[in-house]
Amino acid sequence: MECRIAKGKIEEFACDALISLQYQDGPKAEGPIGKAVKSAYESRHFTGAYGELSRIYPLADSATQCLVLIGLGKKEASSLEMVRKMAGMAIRSVQNLKHVAFMPLGNSKETLRAIIDGAILGNYRFDRLKSDKKKINLETISFFTGKAEVKQSQVTTAQIIDEATCFARDLANMPANLLSPTILSDEAKKLGDKYKIQVKVLSEDDLRKLKMGALLGVAQGSINRPKLVVWEYHGEKTSKPPIVFVGKGVTFDSGGISIKPSDGMEAMKGDMSGAGAIISLIAVMGRLRPKINIVGITPLVENMPSGTAYRPGDVLTASNGKTIEVISTDAEGRLILADALVYARQFKPQYVVDMATLTGACMVALGMNICGGVMGKDQKLINMLIRAGEESGERVWQLPLWNEYKDLIKSSAADMKNTGGRWGGAITAASFLSEFAEGYPWAHLDIAGMDHEDGDHPYRFKGGTGFGVRLLSQFILDQAGK
Ligand code: BES
Ligand code: MN
Ligand code: ZN
Repeated sequence: MECRIAKGKIEEFACDALISLQYQDGPKAEGPIGKAVKSAYESRHFTGAYGELSRIYPLADSATQCLVLIGLGKKEASSLEMVRKMAGMAIRSVQNLKHVAFMPLGNSKETLRAIIDGAILGNYRFDRLKSDKKKINLETISFFTGKAEVKQSQVTTAQIIDEATCFARDLANMPANLLSPTILSDEAKKLGDKYKIQVKVLSEDDLRKLKMGALLGVAQGSINRPKLVVWEYHGEKTSKPPIVFVGKGVTFDSGGISIKPSDGMEAMKGDMSGAGAIISLIAVMGRLRPKINIVGITPLVENMPSGTAYRPGDVLTASNGKTIEVISTDAEGRLILADALVYARQFKPQYVVDMATLTGACMVALGMNICGGVMGKDQKLINMLIRAGEESGERVWQLPLWNEYKDLIKSSAADMKNTGGRWGGAITAASFLSEFAEGYPWAHLDIAGMDHEDGDHPYRFKGGTGFGVRLLSQFILDQAGK
Protein backbone atom coordinates (compact mmCIF):
# COMPACT_ATOMS: atom_id res chain seq x y z
CA MET A 1 0.00 0.00 0.00
CA GLU A 2 1.24 3.42 -0.89
CA CYS A 3 0.19 6.44 1.14
CA ARG A 4 1.01 9.82 -0.25
CA ILE A 5 0.14 13.47 -0.05
CA ALA A 6 -2.00 14.66 -2.94
CA LYS A 7 -1.38 18.07 -4.46
CA GLY A 8 -3.15 20.32 -6.94
CA LYS A 9 -6.80 20.77 -7.73
CA ILE A 10 -9.01 18.01 -6.45
CA GLU A 11 -11.23 18.09 -9.54
CA GLU A 12 -8.17 17.41 -11.68
CA PHE A 13 -7.00 14.50 -9.57
CA ALA A 14 -7.74 11.20 -11.31
CA CYS A 15 -8.36 8.14 -9.17
CA ASP A 16 -11.13 5.59 -8.61
CA ALA A 17 -12.90 7.42 -5.79
CA LEU A 18 -12.66 10.60 -3.80
CA ILE A 19 -13.66 10.33 -0.17
CA SER A 20 -14.97 13.28 1.78
CA LEU A 21 -15.74 13.27 5.49
CA GLN A 22 -18.39 15.88 6.21
CA TYR A 23 -20.05 17.33 9.29
CA GLN A 24 -23.75 17.56 9.89
CA ASP A 25 -23.42 21.32 10.25
CA GLY A 26 -23.43 21.67 6.48
CA PRO A 27 -21.26 21.04 3.44
CA LYS A 28 -17.61 22.11 3.40
CA ALA A 29 -15.82 21.77 0.10
CA GLU A 30 -14.78 24.02 -2.73
CA GLY A 31 -14.87 24.06 -6.50
CA PRO A 32 -16.87 21.71 -8.69
CA ILE A 33 -16.68 18.88 -6.13
CA GLY A 34 -17.96 21.31 -3.52
CA LYS A 35 -20.95 21.92 -5.74
CA ALA A 36 -21.75 18.22 -5.81
CA VAL A 37 -21.43 18.00 -2.02
CA LYS A 38 -23.75 20.96 -1.57
CA SER A 39 -26.39 19.51 -3.83
CA ALA A 40 -26.23 16.22 -1.90
CA TYR A 41 -27.07 18.15 1.27
CA GLU A 42 -29.74 20.26 -0.48
CA SER A 43 -31.48 17.25 -1.93
CA ARG A 44 -31.24 15.55 1.50
CA HIS A 45 -29.49 12.53 -0.01
CA PHE A 46 -26.85 13.21 2.56
CA THR A 47 -27.10 14.99 5.89
CA GLY A 48 -23.68 14.41 7.44
CA ALA A 49 -25.11 12.36 10.32
CA TYR A 50 -22.50 10.23 12.02
CA GLY A 51 -22.03 6.93 10.20
CA GLU A 52 -23.92 7.99 7.09
CA LEU A 53 -22.51 6.96 3.71
CA SER A 54 -23.55 8.29 0.33
CA ARG A 55 -22.06 7.65 -3.07
CA ILE A 56 -22.25 10.11 -5.91
CA TYR A 57 -21.63 8.45 -9.25
CA PRO A 58 -20.97 9.57 -11.88
CA LEU A 59 -19.46 12.78 -10.63
CA ALA A 60 -19.66 15.82 -12.91
CA ASP A 61 -16.74 18.13 -13.80
CA SER A 62 -14.16 15.91 -12.15
CA ALA A 63 -11.33 13.67 -13.29
CA THR A 64 -12.55 11.16 -10.73
CA GLN A 65 -15.90 9.56 -11.38
CA CYS A 66 -16.98 8.71 -7.87
CA LEU A 67 -17.41 10.67 -4.65
CA VAL A 68 -18.00 8.90 -1.35
CA LEU A 69 -19.50 11.07 1.38
CA ILE A 70 -19.17 10.00 4.98
CA GLY A 71 -20.96 11.72 7.85
CA LEU A 72 -19.14 12.79 11.01
CA GLY A 73 -22.15 14.19 12.88
CA LYS A 74 -22.17 17.60 14.53
CA LYS A 75 -18.76 19.23 14.59
CA GLU A 76 -19.15 20.30 18.20
CA ALA A 77 -19.63 16.72 19.38
CA SER A 78 -16.92 15.32 17.13
CA SER A 79 -13.57 13.87 18.17
CA LEU A 80 -10.43 12.53 16.54
CA GLU A 81 -11.59 9.04 17.48
CA MET A 82 -14.77 9.59 15.48
CA VAL A 83 -12.70 10.78 12.52
CA ARG A 84 -10.56 7.66 12.82
CA LYS A 85 -13.66 5.47 12.83
CA MET A 86 -15.24 7.16 9.85
CA ALA A 87 -12.00 6.98 7.86
CA GLY A 88 -12.03 3.26 8.61
CA MET A 89 -15.62 2.95 7.46
CA ALA A 90 -14.78 4.93 4.33
CA ILE A 91 -11.86 2.73 3.35
CA ARG A 92 -13.92 -0.42 3.81
CA SER A 93 -16.42 0.94 1.31
CA VAL A 94 -13.76 1.25 -1.41
CA GLN A 95 -11.69 -1.90 -0.92
CA ASN A 96 -12.67 -3.07 -4.40
CA LEU A 97 -10.96 -0.08 -5.95
CA LYS A 98 -7.27 0.51 -6.60
CA HIS A 99 -6.62 4.20 -6.11
CA VAL A 100 -8.53 6.44 -3.75
CA ALA A 101 -8.03 9.87 -2.24
CA PHE A 102 -9.27 11.56 0.90
CA MET A 103 -10.36 15.16 0.49
CA PRO A 104 -9.15 17.59 3.18
CA LEU A 105 -10.93 17.82 6.51
CA GLY A 106 -10.02 21.06 8.21
CA ASN A 107 -6.41 22.12 8.33
CA SER A 108 -4.88 20.26 11.24
CA LYS A 109 -2.14 17.67 11.23
CA GLU A 110 -3.89 15.75 13.98
CA THR A 111 -7.00 15.31 11.88
CA LEU A 112 -4.96 14.10 8.93
CA ARG A 113 -3.15 11.65 11.20
CA ALA A 114 -6.50 10.32 12.40
CA ILE A 115 -7.64 9.82 8.81
CA ILE A 116 -4.46 7.93 7.93
CA ASP A 117 -4.77 5.74 11.04
CA GLY A 118 -8.42 4.98 10.34
CA ALA A 119 -7.73 4.19 6.70
CA ILE A 120 -4.81 1.82 7.23
CA LEU A 121 -6.20 0.13 10.33
CA GLY A 122 -9.67 -0.12 8.77
CA ASN A 123 -8.22 -1.75 5.67
CA TYR A 124 -6.76 -4.60 7.73
CA ARG A 125 -8.29 -8.03 7.72
CA PHE A 126 -7.14 -11.38 9.02
CA ASP A 127 -8.04 -14.10 6.56
CA ARG A 128 -4.80 -15.94 5.99
CA LEU A 129 -6.28 -19.07 7.56
CA LYS A 130 -9.39 -19.01 5.36
CA SER A 131 -9.65 -20.63 1.95
CA ASP A 132 -12.05 -17.99 0.76
CA LYS A 133 -10.16 -14.72 0.89
CA LYS A 134 -11.80 -11.50 -0.17
CA LYS A 135 -9.41 -9.65 -2.40
CA ILE A 136 -8.43 -6.15 -1.37
CA ASN A 137 -7.46 -4.21 -4.46
CA LEU A 138 -6.33 -0.97 -2.85
CA GLU A 139 -2.90 0.12 -4.02
CA THR A 140 -2.69 3.80 -3.21
CA ILE A 141 -4.38 6.11 -0.77
CA SER A 142 -3.74 9.79 -1.39
CA PHE A 143 -4.44 12.51 1.14
CA PHE A 144 -5.28 16.11 0.41
CA THR A 145 -4.04 18.16 3.34
CA GLY A 146 -5.94 21.43 3.07
CA LYS A 147 -3.88 24.21 4.59
CA ALA A 148 -2.15 21.88 7.03
CA GLU A 149 1.60 21.90 6.54
CA VAL A 150 2.27 18.22 6.37
CA LYS A 151 5.35 16.64 4.90
CA GLN A 152 5.31 13.32 3.10
CA SER A 153 7.63 12.01 5.85
CA GLN A 154 4.88 12.58 8.42
CA VAL A 155 2.43 10.58 6.36
CA THR A 156 5.01 7.83 6.01
CA THR A 157 5.67 7.85 9.76
CA ALA A 158 1.97 7.31 10.46
CA GLN A 159 1.86 4.59 7.84
CA ILE A 160 4.85 2.77 9.34
CA ILE A 161 3.30 2.83 12.80
CA ASP A 162 -0.09 1.69 11.51
CA GLU A 163 1.46 -1.12 9.49
CA ALA A 164 3.34 -2.27 12.58
CA THR A 165 0.00 -2.24 14.40
CA CYS A 166 -1.40 -4.51 11.69
CA PHE A 167 1.58 -6.81 12.12
CA ALA A 168 0.91 -6.95 15.86
CA ARG A 169 -2.71 -7.85 15.03
CA ASP A 170 -1.50 -10.71 12.85
CA LEU A 171 0.58 -12.07 15.73
CA ALA A 172 -2.33 -11.78 18.16
CA ASN A 173 -4.74 -13.40 15.73
CA MET A 174 -2.55 -16.41 15.07
CA PRO A 175 -3.90 -19.30 17.13
CA ALA A 176 -1.70 -20.87 19.77
CA ASN A 177 -1.16 -24.06 17.75
CA LEU A 178 0.44 -21.95 15.03
CA LEU A 179 2.19 -19.46 17.31
CA SER A 180 4.16 -21.13 20.08
CA PRO A 181 6.89 -19.32 22.01
CA THR A 182 9.41 -20.76 19.54
CA ILE A 183 7.49 -19.59 16.49
CA LEU A 184 6.97 -16.14 17.99
CA SER A 185 10.68 -15.87 18.76
CA ASP A 186 11.40 -16.86 15.15
CA GLU A 187 9.12 -14.04 13.98
CA ALA A 188 11.11 -11.62 16.13
CA LYS A 189 14.36 -12.94 14.62
CA LYS A 190 13.00 -12.53 11.10
CA LEU A 191 12.06 -8.92 11.82
CA GLY A 192 15.48 -8.31 13.31
CA ASP A 193 17.20 -9.70 10.21
CA LYS A 194 14.98 -7.68 7.93
CA TYR A 195 15.62 -4.39 9.71
CA LYS A 196 19.20 -5.05 10.87
CA ILE A 197 18.30 -4.92 14.53
CA GLN A 198 19.97 -7.27 16.97
CA VAL A 199 17.58 -9.93 18.29
CA LYS A 200 18.74 -12.45 20.87
CA VAL A 201 16.64 -15.49 21.75
CA LEU A 202 17.38 -17.09 25.11
CA SER A 203 16.59 -20.78 25.40
CA GLU A 204 15.23 -22.65 28.38
CA ASP A 205 18.80 -23.59 29.35
CA ASP A 206 19.79 -19.93 29.34
CA LEU A 207 16.79 -19.10 31.52
CA ARG A 208 17.77 -21.82 33.96
CA LYS A 209 21.29 -20.41 34.19
CA LEU A 210 19.77 -17.03 34.92
CA LYS A 211 17.68 -18.68 37.69
CA MET A 212 14.41 -17.39 36.27
CA GLY A 213 12.36 -19.63 38.52
CA ALA A 214 9.12 -17.67 38.18
CA LEU A 215 9.12 -17.76 34.38
CA LEU A 216 10.19 -21.42 34.33
CA GLY A 217 7.48 -22.32 36.84
CA VAL A 218 4.77 -21.05 34.51
CA ALA A 219 6.38 -22.73 31.50
CA GLN A 220 6.75 -26.17 33.02
CA GLY A 221 3.24 -27.41 32.20
CA SER A 222 3.55 -27.07 28.44
CA ILE A 223 5.36 -29.11 25.82
CA ASN A 224 6.09 -25.80 24.09
CA ARG A 225 9.30 -24.58 25.60
CA PRO A 226 9.74 -21.00 26.83
CA LYS A 227 11.89 -18.30 25.24
CA LEU A 228 13.07 -14.87 26.18
CA VAL A 229 13.45 -12.53 23.24
CA VAL A 230 15.72 -9.52 23.72
CA TRP A 231 16.14 -6.94 20.98
CA GLU A 232 18.37 -3.89 21.03
CA TYR A 233 18.11 -0.87 18.81
CA HIS A 234 20.80 1.78 18.88
CA GLY A 235 19.88 5.15 17.40
CA GLU A 236 22.47 7.06 19.43
CA LYS A 237 25.70 6.44 21.35
CA THR A 238 25.59 3.02 22.97
CA SER A 239 26.61 4.62 26.26
CA LYS A 240 23.26 6.47 26.43
CA PRO A 241 20.81 4.65 28.74
CA PRO A 242 18.04 2.98 26.76
CA ILE A 243 14.31 2.88 27.30
CA VAL A 244 13.43 -0.76 27.95
CA PHE A 245 10.04 -2.22 27.04
CA VAL A 246 8.91 -5.49 28.57
CA GLY A 247 5.93 -7.34 27.08
CA LYS A 248 3.90 -10.24 28.42
CA GLY A 249 4.01 -13.11 25.95
CA VAL A 250 1.70 -15.91 27.03
CA THR A 251 0.95 -17.58 23.70
CA PHE A 252 -1.99 -19.31 25.34
CA ASP A 253 -3.36 -18.79 28.83
CA SER A 254 -5.55 -21.71 29.84
CA GLY A 255 -5.14 -20.67 33.46
CA GLY A 256 -3.07 -23.80 34.13
CA ILE A 257 -4.22 -25.98 37.03
CA SER A 258 -6.39 -23.05 38.16
CA ILE A 259 -8.07 -23.55 34.81
CA LYS A 260 -10.27 -20.88 33.27
CA PRO A 261 -13.93 -21.44 32.38
CA SER A 262 -14.13 -22.73 28.80
CA ASP A 263 -16.51 -20.00 27.65
CA GLY A 264 -14.44 -17.50 25.71
CA MET A 265 -11.17 -19.19 26.51
CA GLU A 266 -10.16 -19.01 22.85
CA ALA A 267 -9.51 -15.29 23.32
CA MET A 268 -6.53 -16.26 25.47
CA LYS A 269 -4.53 -16.93 22.31
CA GLY A 270 -4.15 -13.16 22.44
CA ASP A 271 -2.46 -13.19 25.84
CA MET A 272 0.84 -12.51 24.07
CA SER A 273 -0.37 -9.12 22.82
CA GLY A 274 2.02 -7.13 25.02
CA ALA A 275 4.95 -9.08 23.62
CA GLY A 276 3.47 -8.94 20.12
CA ALA A 277 3.30 -5.16 20.23
CA ILE A 278 6.85 -4.86 21.50
CA ILE A 279 8.17 -7.26 18.87
CA SER A 280 6.30 -5.22 16.24
CA LEU A 281 8.17 -2.13 17.40
CA ILE A 282 11.28 -3.66 15.79
CA ALA A 283 9.76 -2.71 12.44
CA VAL A 284 9.01 0.82 13.62
CA MET A 285 12.59 1.28 14.85
CA GLY A 286 14.03 -0.26 11.70
CA ARG A 287 12.03 1.93 9.36
CA LEU A 288 12.06 5.23 11.28
CA ARG A 289 15.53 4.97 12.80
CA PRO A 290 14.87 7.49 15.62
CA LYS A 291 17.84 8.88 17.55
CA ILE A 292 17.31 6.94 20.74
CA ASN A 293 18.31 3.61 22.28
CA ILE A 294 15.55 1.07 22.83
CA VAL A 295 15.54 -2.45 24.22
CA GLY A 296 12.62 -4.88 23.97
CA ILE A 297 12.34 -7.84 26.34
CA THR A 298 9.57 -10.38 25.87
CA PRO A 299 9.22 -13.51 27.99
CA LEU A 300 7.32 -16.12 25.96
CA VAL A 301 5.53 -19.10 27.53
CA GLU A 302 2.42 -21.19 27.26
CA ASN A 303 0.34 -21.63 30.44
CA MET A 304 -1.07 -25.16 30.45
CA PRO A 305 -2.40 -27.69 32.97
CA SER A 306 -0.64 -31.05 32.86
CA GLY A 307 1.18 -33.59 34.99
CA THR A 308 4.24 -31.39 34.90
CA ALA A 309 2.43 -28.11 35.50
CA TYR A 310 3.13 -25.84 38.47
CA ARG A 311 0.47 -25.96 41.16
CA PRO A 312 -1.27 -23.66 43.61
CA GLY A 313 0.82 -23.73 46.77
CA ASP A 314 4.12 -24.08 44.93
CA VAL A 315 6.81 -21.63 45.95
CA LEU A 316 8.90 -20.22 43.11
CA THR A 317 12.16 -18.32 43.41
CA ALA A 318 12.58 -15.46 40.95
CA SER A 319 15.94 -14.38 39.54
CA ASN A 320 16.35 -11.65 42.17
CA GLY A 321 16.05 -14.28 44.90
CA LYS A 322 12.56 -13.31 46.05
CA THR A 323 10.20 -16.20 46.78
CA ILE A 324 6.61 -16.33 45.56
CA GLU A 325 3.78 -18.48 46.82
CA VAL A 326 1.53 -19.45 43.92
CA ILE A 327 -2.11 -19.02 44.89
CA SER A 328 -3.49 -19.12 41.37
CA THR A 329 -1.66 -20.54 38.38
CA ASP A 330 -3.85 -18.18 36.36
CA ALA A 331 -1.94 -15.19 37.71
CA GLU A 332 0.94 -16.24 35.44
CA GLY A 333 1.61 -12.98 33.63
CA ARG A 334 3.12 -11.26 36.66
CA LEU A 335 5.36 -14.29 37.22
CA ILE A 336 6.96 -14.20 33.80
CA LEU A 337 7.20 -10.40 33.92
CA ALA A 338 8.92 -10.60 37.30
CA ASP A 339 11.97 -12.33 35.82
CA ALA A 340 11.92 -10.14 32.71
CA LEU A 341 11.85 -6.99 34.86
CA VAL A 342 14.83 -8.24 36.87
CA TYR A 343 16.63 -8.95 33.59
CA ALA A 344 15.94 -5.37 32.42
CA ARG A 345 18.14 -3.91 35.15
CA GLN A 346 21.44 -4.87 33.44
CA PHE A 347 20.71 -2.33 30.68
CA LYS A 348 20.88 0.53 33.22
CA PRO A 349 17.68 1.87 31.72
CA GLN A 350 16.51 5.43 31.59
CA TYR A 351 12.99 4.05 31.89
CA VAL A 352 11.33 0.66 31.90
CA VAL A 353 7.76 0.30 30.68
CA ASP A 354 6.05 -3.05 30.75
CA MET A 355 2.90 -3.84 28.85
CA ALA A 356 0.68 -6.81 29.62
CA THR A 357 -2.79 -8.27 29.22
CA LEU A 358 -2.59 -8.70 32.96
CA THR A 359 -5.91 -8.54 34.79
CA GLY A 360 -9.62 -8.82 34.16
CA ALA A 361 -9.88 -6.40 37.09
CA CYS A 362 -8.42 -3.63 34.94
CA MET A 363 -11.25 -4.12 32.45
CA VAL A 364 -13.77 -3.97 35.28
CA ALA A 365 -12.22 -0.71 36.45
CA LEU A 366 -11.82 1.08 33.13
CA GLY A 367 -14.30 -0.50 30.76
CA MET A 368 -13.97 -2.57 27.65
CA ASN A 369 -11.86 -1.12 24.87
CA ILE A 370 -11.87 2.42 26.20
CA CYS A 371 -8.41 2.76 27.70
CA GLY A 372 -5.65 0.78 29.34
CA GLY A 373 -4.43 1.22 32.91
CA VAL A 374 -1.12 2.79 33.83
CA MET A 375 0.51 2.41 37.23
CA GLY A 376 3.86 3.20 38.77
CA LYS A 377 5.71 5.46 41.16
CA ASP A 378 7.39 7.76 38.65
CA GLN A 379 4.76 10.40 37.96
CA LYS A 380 6.80 12.08 35.24
CA LEU A 381 7.03 8.86 33.25
CA ILE A 382 3.33 8.15 33.81
CA ASN A 383 2.39 11.63 32.61
CA MET A 384 4.43 11.14 29.44
CA LEU A 385 2.67 7.86 28.75
CA ILE A 386 -0.76 9.40 29.33
CA ARG A 387 0.15 12.18 26.93
CA ALA A 388 1.47 9.79 24.29
CA GLY A 389 -1.82 7.93 24.67
CA GLU A 390 -3.84 11.05 24.01
CA GLU A 391 -1.69 11.98 21.03
CA SER A 392 -1.84 8.54 19.47
CA GLY A 393 -5.46 7.73 20.30
CA GLU A 394 -4.44 4.72 22.40
CA ARG A 395 -5.28 6.10 25.79
CA VAL A 396 -4.24 4.98 29.25
CA TRP A 397 -5.57 6.10 32.62
CA GLN A 398 -3.76 6.03 35.93
CA LEU A 399 -4.69 3.87 38.89
CA PRO A 400 -2.96 4.47 42.23
CA LEU A 401 -0.10 2.34 43.48
CA TRP A 402 0.02 3.23 47.16
CA ASN A 403 2.00 1.09 49.55
CA GLU A 404 -1.16 -0.03 51.33
CA TYR A 405 -1.89 -2.33 48.42
CA LYS A 406 1.25 -4.30 49.14
CA ASP A 407 -0.29 -5.69 52.31
CA LEU A 408 -2.69 -7.62 50.11
CA ILE A 409 0.05 -9.77 48.57
CA LYS A 410 1.74 -10.76 51.84
CA SER A 411 2.24 -14.49 52.18
CA SER A 412 2.77 -16.67 55.25
CA ALA A 413 4.77 -19.17 53.21
CA ALA A 414 7.02 -16.94 51.06
CA ASP A 415 8.09 -13.33 50.46
CA MET A 416 4.81 -12.67 48.68
CA LYS A 417 1.93 -14.41 46.96
CA ASN A 418 0.91 -14.05 43.35
CA THR A 419 -2.66 -12.86 43.89
CA GLY A 420 -4.12 -10.18 46.10
CA GLY A 421 -7.70 -11.31 46.38
CA ARG A 422 -10.79 -9.87 44.84
CA TRP A 423 -10.45 -6.13 45.33
CA GLY A 424 -8.17 -3.84 43.37
CA GLY A 425 -6.87 -6.70 41.28
CA ALA A 426 -5.17 -4.52 38.67
CA ILE A 427 -3.32 -2.65 41.41
CA THR A 428 -2.26 -5.65 43.47
CA ALA A 429 -0.84 -7.12 40.25
CA ALA A 430 1.13 -3.92 39.69
CA SER A 431 2.26 -3.97 43.34
CA PHE A 432 3.56 -7.45 42.75
CA LEU A 433 5.53 -6.28 39.69
CA SER A 434 7.02 -3.38 41.64
CA GLU A 435 8.87 -5.94 43.79
CA PHE A 436 10.90 -6.81 40.69
CA ALA A 437 11.10 -3.47 38.91
CA GLU A 438 13.89 -2.22 41.12
CA GLY A 439 16.73 0.16 40.35
CA TYR A 440 15.12 2.22 37.58
CA PRO A 441 12.07 4.41 36.91
CA TRP A 442 9.25 2.13 35.87
CA ALA A 443 5.65 2.16 34.71
CA HIS A 444 3.25 -0.68 34.08
CA LEU A 445 0.57 -0.73 31.39
CA ASP A 446 -2.32 -3.15 31.88
CA ILE A 447 -3.87 -3.68 28.45
CA ALA A 448 -6.22 -6.58 29.26
CA GLY A 449 -9.26 -6.26 27.02
CA MET A 450 -7.64 -3.52 24.93
CA ASP A 451 -5.88 -6.22 22.97
CA HIS A 452 -9.09 -7.66 21.63
CA GLU A 453 -12.14 -6.49 19.68
CA ASP A 454 -15.25 -8.65 19.97
CA GLY A 455 -17.75 -6.72 17.93
CA ASP A 456 -17.98 -4.80 14.69
CA HIS A 457 -15.78 -1.77 14.71
CA PRO A 458 -14.94 0.53 11.80
CA TYR A 459 -11.16 0.36 12.16
CA ARG A 460 -10.55 -2.62 14.40
CA PHE A 461 -11.01 -5.97 12.78
CA LYS A 462 -12.61 -8.62 14.99
CA GLY A 463 -9.81 -10.14 17.09
CA GLY A 464 -6.44 -8.60 17.92
CA THR A 465 -6.25 -4.80 17.94
CA GLY A 466 -2.49 -4.32 18.00
CA PHE A 467 -3.00 -2.01 20.97
CA GLY A 468 0.17 -0.40 22.28
CA VAL A 469 2.11 -0.05 19.05
CA ARG A 470 0.77 3.44 18.38
CA LEU A 471 1.05 4.41 22.05
CA LEU A 472 4.64 3.28 22.51
CA SER A 473 5.75 4.53 19.08
CA GLN A 474 4.42 7.96 20.01
CA PHE A 475 6.18 7.76 23.37
CA ILE A 476 9.45 6.83 21.63
CA LEU A 477 9.18 9.63 19.08
CA ASP A 478 8.34 12.14 21.84
CA GLN A 479 11.45 10.99 23.71
CA ALA A 480 13.62 11.10 20.61
CA GLY A 481 12.45 14.69 20.07
CA LYS A 482 10.88 14.00 16.71
N1 BES B 1 -4.52 -13.12 30.81
C1 BES B 1 -5.31 -12.97 31.97
C2 BES B 1 -5.99 -11.59 32.05
C3 BES B 1 -6.99 -11.28 30.98
C4 BES B 1 -8.33 -11.49 31.18
C5 BES B 1 -6.58 -10.73 29.78
C6 BES B 1 -9.23 -11.20 30.20
C7 BES B 1 -7.49 -10.42 28.78
C8 BES B 1 -8.81 -10.66 28.98
C9 BES B 1 -4.46 -13.13 33.22
O1 BES B 1 -3.41 -14.02 33.10
C10 BES B 1 -5.35 -13.66 34.29
O2 BES B 1 -5.78 -14.76 34.15
N2 BES B 1 -5.58 -12.87 35.33
C11 BES B 1 -6.41 -13.24 36.41
C12 BES B 1 -5.67 -12.91 37.68
C13 BES B 1 -6.28 -13.49 38.90
C14 BES B 1 -6.14 -14.99 38.90
C15 BES B 1 -5.61 -12.89 40.11
C16 BES B 1 -7.71 -12.47 36.31
O3 BES B 1 -7.69 -11.31 35.90
O4 BES B 1 -8.74 -13.05 36.60
MN1 MN C 1 -3.98 -16.02 33.54
ZN1 ZN D 1 -2.66 -14.29 31.23
